[in-house]
Amino acid sequence: MNKGKKVGEERTLPGEQGERLVRLRNEYVPKGVFQIAPIFISKAKGALIEDVDGNEYIDFAAGISVLNIGHCHDKVVSAIKEQADKHLHTCFHVLMYESYVKLAEKLAEITPGNFPKQVLLTNSGAEAVENSVKVARRYTGRYGIIAFEHAFHGRTTLAMGLTSQVKYYKYGFGPFDPGIQRFPYAYTYRAPFKTTDAEYGEYCVRTIEDSFKTYMPAEAIAAIIVEPVLGEGGYVIPPVEFLKGLRRICDDYGILFIADEIQSGMGRTGKMWAIEHFDVVPDILLAAKSLGGGLVLSATVGRRDIMDSVDIGGIGGTFGGNPLSCAAALKAIEVIEQDKLLDRATELGKIAKDRLEGMNEKYDIIGDVRGLGSAIGVELVKDRETKEPATKETGEIRKKCHKHGLIIMSCGGLHNVIRIMFPLIIKDGELKTGLDILEDAIKEVNKTI
Ligand SMILES: Cc1ncc(COP(=O)(O)O)c(C=O)c1O
Repeated sequence: MNKGKKVGEERTLPGEQGERLVRLRNEYVPKGVFQIAPIFISKAKGALIEDVDGNEYIDFAAGISVLNIGHCHDKVVSAIKEQADKHLHTCFHVLMYESYVKLAEKLAEITPGNFPKQVLLTNSGAEAVENSVKVARRYTGRYGIIAFEHAFHGRTTLAMGLTSQVKYYKYGFGPFDPGIQRFPYAYTYRAPFKTTDAEYGEYCVRTIEDSFKTYMPAEAIAAIIVEPVLGEGGYVIPPVEFLKGLRRICDDYGILFIADEIQSGMGRTGKMWAIEHFDVVPDILLAAKSLGGGLVLSATVGRRDIMDSVDIGGIGGTFGGNPLSCAAALKAIEVIEQDKLLDRATELGKIAKDRLEGMNEKYDIIGDVRGLGSAIGVELVKDRETKEPATKETGEIRKKCHKHGLIIMSCGGLHNVIRIMFPLIIKDGELKTGLDILEDAIKEVNKTI
């Protein structure tokens, strides 16, 4: 029976059972595997979580944007159980199964681009990133890859090289791939000079084009990899001129456009893929996180001529596109479509953003509120003029939220952005309660700056 605290009530973290498990964790799991809170889950459903001490929480983190359709969606759980009764693993290289090719067909259908496509299924987001670079290099015969400041593309060596943030994602792990070139992302709130959003987007594009004369010729660049909305880098929404400009460069110089939609995709922004807001069609699109409805799965979806340029055996893997994940993904996509979760993402995002903009008027610690659908960032600063990041305060707000039953994360290279990524099936009342807890925490910490 639940003996813990209800959402909104203050609890001690970790609780008694939690403390026992935290001790075990500290003994046997390296500290490099970070945690946002000393909380062990017992069960979850929809947007609600219960921990091992019976404390309840509302989820504004969704397992880092993995649970767009919520925890343990009934239809996904049934699909997994049904598949588990048939077969668990064959390896797609050994024996093929229908769900892999059905999912490939579905992803080709629901991704932008009116051209033939092919799909590689893998396990993690980083693996999709790695494969997109392999395919781009094989297809173009070029080695250069353009990536951006504030980007996050994963933790494997190549993906880590593409990732921007040094501490602690990259610190001590180098050297990295020598083909990687890095340029400013159109993070307009932190533009280093006075400019309009559109002009800054165009400036960032020009910086790349200018570099073809000074750093690396365009003929050596295989691909530009970009998050249409920055995830770990701060939930930044770039001006349309930025992404359109990158597409133009790709067209002019025979470079491939890779959209990393691992965090921004699967309905989070109110469209299936964030890039659709910008009217840009990528050559390769990467999906993971919410794709598997809670199970491990990633996809590299690309133009058929590009994907098919790789020799037999050049891409794949033992577990890639495993049957349980494929069954779950097909169902997760169906749920997004049938339950109209794209519209709901837009609706929920508007409710949250309106409320946060109201907070922006009351609390000086809020420097910027930004969002696309239900991908929302709240950047916290010590001073609105200097924009000095309120890094410590962001951590305090997060902790206060956890203690009152709201699971929430921060992000950003300066560790000062509260990111809001609730499941898209969250109820209006749950959203309101979560925002109430967040406002109380912001109000308290605002007094200290
Ligand atoms: C945009 C983006 N790309 C790639 C990754 C890496 O995904 P994974 O952790 O599944 O390897 C992430 C993870 O946060 C991400 O947000």
